[in-house]
Amino acid sequence: MADQTTALERWSEDLPAQARRALAVGRALCACDGHYHTLWGTLRASGASNGLKSEEPLLASLIKPYVRDSARVMIAGAADPGVPCAMGRIYAPVMPALTVVDRCKASLELMRQFAATKHLVCRTLNLNLLDLDGSEQWDQIVLHYTPDFLDPLLHGRLFQALARALSPGGTVVCAAMTATGVVGEREHEVGGVYYDYTLKKVMDGPMAEAAASTEFLDMLRAYSVRWGQRRTNLPSSEQLVHSMRNAGLSILSENSAPRQHRIVGGAALVDSCSIIIAGK
Ligand SMILES: C[S@@+](CC[C@H](N)C(=O)[O-])C[C@H]1O[C@@H](n2cnc3c(N)ncnc32)[C@H](O)[C@@H]1O
Ligand SMILES: [Zn+2]
Repeated sequence: MADQTTALERWSEDLPAQARRALAVGRALCACDGHYHTLWGTLRASGASNGLKSEEPLLASLIKPYVRDSARVMIAGAADPGVPCAMGRIYAPVMPALTVVDRCKASLELMRQFAATKHLVCRTLNLNLLDLDGSEQWDQIVLHYTPDFLDPLLHGRLFQALARALSPGGTVVCAAMTATGVVGEREHEVGGVYYDYTLKKVMDGPMAEAAASTEFLDMLRAYSVRWGQRRTNLPSSEQLVHSMRNAGLSILSENSAPRQHRIVGGAALVDSCSIIIAGK
C-alpha cells in the first residue's frame, strides 16, 4: 500500500532492473547521440556513473533551506528517475509537485514507469528547455549536468528560458561540469579512456551480461565518443555565472562538488564541477 511506504522506500531505485528496462525502452524511443538513454541505466547500475550518489549530501544541504510545502519543482533534463528520486528524498517529508522535462521520450517513459510502480505523481513534459516561454512557472528548477549537453554558446538562451519559467522568489539549482582531463598516459584520448573504464565497470558489475553482446559494445563505443566530445567543450564556472547573471538571475551560492577520479590502466579521468544556486 502506497500510504504505508516510507519516503525513503518510495524514492528508492532498483538500478539493475531499471537498467534492463532502459536497454529496452531506449532501443525503442531514444534517438539521442551515443544511445544516451539506452545505456545510462547500465552505467549507473555498474557504478561507472555515480556522481549523483556522492553529491546527494551536498545537494541536500544546499537545497534544504529552500524547501517549501507544495513547491513546484522542475527537473530540467533527467536521464532516468535518479535526480527526481534524489529530490524526493531531499524534500521528504514534504512531497514536491514534480515535473520532469526532457527532449528525449525514453527518459520520460522510464520516469512514468517508475512513478506507476511506486504510486507516485510526477508530470513529464517532452520539450526542449530552450522553448520554455514562461506560460508556466516553477518554484525550483534543478539541472543536474544538463548544461553539459548544450554548447556553451547556447547557455545564455538556456538560462533566459529557465529564468522565464521560474516564479518570483524561486531558485535554480545548477550542477555543471567545468573541466575533464586525463592524467597520466593517453592524455588526448578522453573518450577512449572513458570507454575502457566503463566497460571494465560493466563487466565487473550486475549488468555484466549486457557486455557480452557486440551490439552493446558498439553502442558503448558511440556513447564514449560523444562523452569525450562533450567533455572537451565545457564552460568555466565563471562563464556559467556570467550566463546566469545575464539572464537576470542572482547568484546565491557557488560550490564545487566532490568527484572521484576514475582510474583504468595507466590513466585517470579527473573532473571538476560546480553547483550554483541562483534566485530570481
Ligand atoms: C546529463 S543528463 C542528466 C543526467 C543526470 N545527471 C541524471 O542523473 O539524470 C541531461 C539530460 O538533459 C536532457 N537534455 C539535454 N539538453 C536538453 C534540452 N535542450 N532540452 C530538454 N532536455 C535536454 C538530455 O536528454 C538528458 O536526459
Ligand atoms: Zn535519448
